[in-house]
Amino acid sequence: MKDYKKVVASAVSQAVDGQLSIDEITAKIETPKSLNLGDYAFPAFVLAKVLRKAPQMIAQDLVEKIDHAGFEKIEAVGPYVNFFLDKKDFSADVLGDVISKGASFGDADEGKGGNVPIDMSSPNIAKPMSMGHLRSTVIGNSIAQLLEKTGYKPVKINHLGDWGTQFGKLMCAYKLWGSEEEVKKDPIDSLLRYYVRFHEEDVDHPELDEKAREWFKRLEDGDEEATKLWKWFREESLKVFMRVYDRLDIKFDSYNGEAFYNDKMDEVVEMLEAKNLLHESQGAQIVDLSKYDLNPALIKKTDGATLYITRDLAAAIYRKRTYEFAQSLYVVGNEQKNHFKQLKAVLKEMGYDWSDDIHHIPFGLITKDGKKLSTRSGRIVLLEEVLDDAVKLAQKQIEEKNPALENKAEVAEAVGVGAVVFHDLKNDRLNNFDFNLEEVVRFEGETGPYVQYSHARAMSILRKAGNPGLDATGNYRLDDSEAWETLRLLADFPATVLKAVEEYEPSVIAKYGIHLAKAFNRYYAHSRILEDDDQKEARLALVKSVAEVLKESLRLLGVKAPDEM
Ligand code: ARG
Repeated sequence: MKDYKKVVASAVSQAVDGQLSIDEITAKIETPKSLNLGDYAFPAFVLAKVLRKAPQMIAQDLVEKIDHAGFEKIEAVGPYVNFFLDKKDFSADVLGDVISKGASFGDADEGKGGNVPIDMSSPNIAKPMSMGHLRSTVIGNSIAQLLEKTGYKPVKINHLGDWGTQFGKLMCAYKLWGSEEEVKKDPIDSLLRYYVRFHEEDVDHPELDEKAREWFKRLEDGDEEATKLWKWFREESLKVFMRVYDRLDIKFDSYNGEAFYNDKMDEVVEMLEAKNLLHESQGAQIVDLSKYDLNPALIKKTDGATLYITRDLAAAIYRKRTYEFAQSLYVVGNEQKNHFKQLKAVLKEMGYDWSDDIHHIPFGLITKDGKKLSTRSGRIVLLEEVLDDAVKLAQKQIEEKNPALENKAEVAEAVGVGAVVFHDLKNDRLNNFDFNLEEVVRFEGETGPYVQYSHARAMSILRKAGNPGLDATGNYRLDDSEAWETLRLLADFPATVLKAVEEYEPSVIAKYGIHLAKAFNRYYAHSRILEDDDQKEARLALVKSVAEVLKESLRLLGVKAPDEM
């Protein structure tokens, strides 16, 4: 596919005889808000100073000087020169490209094969996975797909919260009130119950705290029973998390959690000491970060215990050594913003310039009925329940719309789960949003099911046409103004992918998908696609291209695209 902005820029460049370089011209070219004003516009007033002429005049002159070949028309409107591309040429170029490339349309080589570890999901064991962890999981997964499409090698790391003094409490509680059968049956639920009970009883029995400390000490010292219990809690919790990951169809490359770095922190502390960065403050060891306008990073507590950031320092260094990364990403809620600023600052102080390649990808909160979801207030929305409810709603709608559908259960799962994922990704990730299931699963409006439905509609048109063997040898010269918006959007896909990956922003793709689906549905409402005339094949090529690009957009978001629904 040609770069049409460049085509326009070089046409302008040939007419301005040297006052502006081609790069300067390219940077000035705009895309008009309305298609009535053409496909590209050059603001002639940028030449007003040099030419000492009125912008309208310059625009008029340019229209006369520019070579019109390859354009439908070029006209001056006020101080602008508006360019209308030749529809047939453009159509043949774009559709030919989508059809020959298929799912690889929009692939890029920006990453040059560089590794990008993505710290994502990272729930805490023995606790329910929250909606925040779901956000991290789906945003991280989509960024991984986008990175892969643009030539990077993503490495998905689940940095499980599997270490800390709370495990002493949990073991203590389990030994007092727990049962193996209960944990096996419903691990997260029962472990959470023991933990909550510990905190209740602890109020009147402060000696419990001492016991919990002992258990944690045993765990740290590698005591056999404590280690066995810890491993078992971890395994059982992971089994539950895996159920969610399986439904989302998300796989991780590593489950190295916090505990993995237990034997890697001494080295970090030694390096900090050797570089004279560690200072004592009220018995604790800290790194002063006042020159970064940040609070000091607490590396070791008075009792010698290491902290969350100490583990993250060890993890960051481990990832650099293991993956020699191009970038290292952390998809974690915005509330941990300062933590990641501190992490980067300490690494910088240690002399690691690659600290600049670390990026925290924050995201906002999901609220329910305007209130924050948190474990303490009991407002935990259990993820699996949300997914189950979404699938049920999808089922109901399929039952109404397409009762004869063959693989209803499979499609309902794809639509229900896809709806939740899409909803999570369609807003700018930093925005907070409220979760209303009915709205999320609607087949109309700006939802995942709407985009899936548009894809299925395109597939059904192709089926009705007898699945024509359209291929790259075809010359799809579509000359239909109703199709123009859709064609332009198809051509925008590669640039949209690049924008999404540059901004680590899956919503760019989700919004694009909605936009393309809407344009296509408008086209569908106005055109007789299957009518037998000389443009039929070109129209079908458009339909096939839309199906291809919608499917790929959904894939980049981690959402499935059923052929029928
Ligand atoms: N387990 C943490 C939590 O649930 C998130 C961990 C994020 N990753 C990291 N490397 N700090 O809040």
